[in-house]
Amino acid sequence: METLKAMATRKSVREFTDEGITFEDIKKILTAGMSGPSCMNKRMWSFVVIRNKELLGKLSVANGLYAGPLRGAALGILVCGDLERALPEAPEYWVIDASIATQNMVLAAQDLGIGSVWLGCWPCEDRVQEVKELMALPENIVPHSILALGYAKEPDNEERDLYESDRVHFDEW
Ligand SMILES: Cc1cc2nc3c(=O)[nH]c(=O)nc-3n(C[C@H](O)[C@H](O)[C@H](O)COP(=O)(O)O)c2cc1C
Repeated sequence: METLKAMATRKSVREFTDEGITFEDIKKILTAGMSGPSCMNKRMWSFVVIRNKELLGKLSVANGLYAGPLRGAALGILVCGDLERALPEAPEYWVIDASIATQNMVLAAQDLGIGSVWLGCWPCEDRVQEVKELMALPENIVPHSILALGYAKEPDNEERDLYESDRVHFDEW
């Protein structure tokens, strides 16, 4: 699938079949996550792949009301920022690095025919604390987002055109 087609067909998937995701595909998705631009190439992220169903259930509780899709997912990928790698003069850039990594993984999954939904964690302080505790993350590691991944129960590869001309300005506002 071409990149533009992956973007046009992607929609959040919240209900999954029982089919697992191969290690080969997991690695392709993670590689995509690690292939985006990164501020001063500091690559300020780390990932936790969660395949254990019980842990996925606990993670869905820790991440609050809207993290239900993790319960039926084949796996979750917890995207974390690594503050030890952050730039002292612009520490917040880790958030952008983590966001790019997450979106790259969403598109890679779509390309592989795997559905996903992005579940926000940071900057909701309660979610950050709960997830950090559950996953026993080191001090410098901040949970940013979670991807729930799996094969869609109701696959929908219809292309959407989400262009909004009134959001775009050429040469002047
Ligand atoms: C930062 C961020 C946080 C999100 N958090 C959640 C969430 O907690 N639960 C959820 O079901 N979807 C979540 N989503 C998915 C959005 O609801 C979804 O992308 C949006 O409604 C547009 O739908 P689409 O992805 O099908 O185009 C999140 C998306 C982003 C980018």
